[in-house]
Amino acid sequence: MINTEVEVRPATAADLSAVNEICNQYVAETHYTFDVEPMSMDARREWFSHYDAAGRYRLVVAVSEGRVIGYASSSRFRPKPAYETSIETSIYLAPESVDRGAGSQLYEGLFKLLEGEDVHRAYAGIALPNPASIAIHERFGFKRVAHFTEQGRKFGRYWDVAWYEKPVGAEPNDPAAD
Ligand SMILES: CC(C)(COP(=O)(O)OP(=O)(O)OC[C@H]1O[C@@H](n2cnc3c(N)ncnc32)[C@H](O)[C@@H]1OP(=O)(O)O)[C@@H](O)C(=O)NCCC(=O)NCCS
Repeated sequence: MINTEVEVRPATAADLSAVNEICNQYVAETHYTFDVEPMSMDARREWFSHYDAAGRYRLVVAVSEGRVIGYASSSRFRPKPAYETSIETSIYLAPESVDRGAGSQLYEGLFKLLEGEDVHRAYAGIALPNPASIAIHERFGFKRVAHFTEQGRKFGRYWDVAWYEKPVGAEPNDPAAD
């Protein structure tokens, strides 16, 4: 692995077209994301409105030589209120920028921003196979907690999804409260 010189910073509206281009390539060509149609820029801007400069829901980009080469996000896991302290994370690099350490720098940046936030668990759903995604999630302390079979259909076939979980923050349940 060659380490790329990368700056990781919160995303701005000006980054969205690069983010959309990276994502839409994976939408069109891979099973890694279960979106099946490319996202329009209007839809991407609406998506971006769910992220903030503070709190649980963040979007960071990796910039190399002035160009956005990838992004990572933390999103709401499920809508019901008790799920609030769980987030789902996601990470995508431009295909020419993989396997050079940029993904690890993105996740470092994302999890640093989440320090001190009211988050207890992070989840990542990895459509299989995807050895690079498994490797980076394990590197960041995610553990496989479930294997759902044929959970999605794309390109005319079903795909299994492995769900990974990572404890975030230091507040355990109080045993006295059980
Ligand atoms: C998954 C992804 C974000 C990882 O980022 P990356 O910059 O390639 O990963 P890094 O270079 O930081 O390496 C992180 C670990 O993954 C390993 N890795 C990277 N590419 C790999 C590959 N193709 N196969 C197996 N392991 C791989 C590295 O060796 C490293 O392992 P280590 O911690 O044991 O040293 C990136 O490959 C990517 O964008 N892939 C396509 C999109 C995608 O699959 N996103 C995730 C959807 S769930």
